[in-house]
Amino acid sequence: MASVPSLAATLDKRLTEAITAALPDAGSAQAAPAPGADAVDPMLRRSDRADFQANGMLALAKRLKANPRELAGEVVESLPPNEEIEGVEVSGPGFLNITVSDAAILRNLAARSDDDRLGVPYADRPGTTVIDYSQPNVAKEMHVGHLRSTVIGDAVTQILEHQGEKVIRRHHIGDWGTNFGMLIQYLIEHPHELDHESDAANAHDEGEAAMARLNRLYKDSRPLFDSDEEFKSRARDRVVALQSGDEETLTLWRKIVDESKTYFQGVYEDLDVEIHDEDIVGESAYNDDLQQVVKDLESSGVAVRSEGALCVFFDDVKGPDGTPTPLIVQKSNGGFGYAATDLAAIRDRVGTLKADTLLYVVDARQALHFRMVFETAQRAGWLPEGAARQLAFGTVLGKDGKPFKTREGETVRLVDLLDEAKERAAVVVREKAQDLTDEEINTRAAQVGIGAVKYADLSNSMTRDYVFDLDRMVSLQGDTSVYLQYAYARNRSIFRKAGDLKPAVHPTLSLAPQERALGLHLDEFADTLAAAAETYEPHKLAAYLYGLATLYAGFFENCPVLKAETRELAENRLFLCDLTARTLRQGMSLLGIRTPERL
Ligand code: ARG
Repeated sequence: MASVPSLAATLDKRLTEAITAALPDAGSAQAAPAPGADAVDPMLRRSDRADFQANGMLALAKRLKANPRELAGEVVESLPPNEEIEGVEVSGPGFLNITVSDAAILRNLAARSDDDRLGVPYADRPGTTVIDYSQPNVAKEMHVGHLRSTVIGDAVTQILEHQGEKVIRRHHIGDWGTNFGMLIQYLIEHPHELDHESDAANAHDEGEAAMARLNRLYKDSRPLFDSDEEFKSRARDRVVALQSGDEETLTLWRKIVDESKTYFQGVYEDLDVEIHDEDIVGESAYNDDLQQVVKDLESSGVAVRSEGALCVFFDDVKGPDGTPTPLIVQKSNGGFGYAATDLAAIRDRVGTLKADTLLYVVDARQALHFRMVFETAQRAGWLPEGAARQLAFGTVLGKDGKPFKTREGETVRLVDLLDEAKERAAVVVREKAQDLTDEEINTRAAQVGIGAVKYADLSNSMTRDYVFDLDRMVSLQGDTSVYLQYAYARNRSIFRKAGDLKPAVHPTLSLAPQERALGLHLDEFADTLAAAAETYEPHKLAAYLYGLATLYAGFFENCPVLKAETRELAENRLFLCDLTARTLRQGMSLLGIRTPERL
């Protein structure tokens, strides 16, 4: 494993050195940069004019009250001799336009290619992150909101782990609360309600059967609960029995939770995400800590009793009529809600799991809840400032621009959506497939359809709402995963036809513009991953991969590979193809998207 600094990183270093050499005072107090700003940031960017442009001399000249063009000229003079820069010129009001040499590009790519990690370094100071994502509710169907939390959480987890961070997953499922009283009481009175033969062929069918049983349990018990006062009161007593740990009650509760987990695993299998049972640590897991949470918050004065409830108040959180809206930790009847569990979980995650960072991949509509919970935990001394962060995601919308619902106005079952995505993808795959068997078509359709749904989600900045439009998602044109998957498959097909030609770098060759553009982009992979990990934004990786596939298409059109003029040229182009394929595959796999070898 060898980390390979990108050309951009190397240039940045060279320029910083040159600025320091030209202006020994540039980083000093006299030249006082804005607080937090790098004293001598060359502000290097990719550019259309040359390969790179550095704009930093403008700000620096302003601070030093110097002439920017002159300053830029001095910086150029001070550049140490090096192997990367082929040309540099001062342009406009004082920019530097920088061209790197073909040989430098190829040498860097060769170093990436020699490394299993494509030259991606591990983070300097990895820590421990606990990420709370994919938190469906027991005895309920999963819907599009759970899709987002699962897909985003999985991508963020993989991106962080790839950087060397220790990541602990916590699926904080809704497995506790008063609604279980009714279901359990009904089960006690109808002991065979959940009985069944186990004859399901796969995780999907098994999950669907489990959910069907849970739905039946709900549909059978609800009318009784609504119409029969005596049943209702027995159901209420059952909640008390559950909370006080009555064994018979707990056994049936566990049965309901297990049925739900079977269902969740079926959906996860469809979604092609790996979620392990031991990471499913639901609300119930914190039940024993709740009394202590209440005691500590009350004795420290962080929470106060108000009309019998235990509340935490915030100066800036008020209802429409101006009265403060508190976070309720314990209700006046002694019951605990969602907030208490989240507070107990924070204590566990920081105190026991020793997390430095807590992430919560949860719908943006819960932003106020998390703001209040984090603030409370900080006041109580359980959470260092800035250690917790909600990765808030926007709403999935229908084509009408309203939150996604069925025509009848009901929530859409996630499994139905995924099925439809696979069906649409099958049409696309079948159209293109010349030599695929039916079974291959189905496998590919799943990889294409699920990839399309994930990519559509991940390629948007996560706070934004997006429209769930399957036609667009499985399109071969535009910014879709299918486009990326085709770029990959087309690339792989070259290798099947390459015969004895093998990829090899020839750093003495001069590169065509499309080869340079592709090469420079390939060189940015590690920097992109670091940026995506830094800000928890998978869409940065998605955008990078789309850029890569687009540049690859330009290269593929203009630069014949197997029919190149010379063998050297062919080998070198095959090398670019190989590195492109490996980069696409690695990047897409971090987003949870498959790259079939053929499509
Ligand atoms: N179960 C909740 C829901 O389906 C999400 C839980 C979010 N996580 C948390 N720690 N509160 O909306």
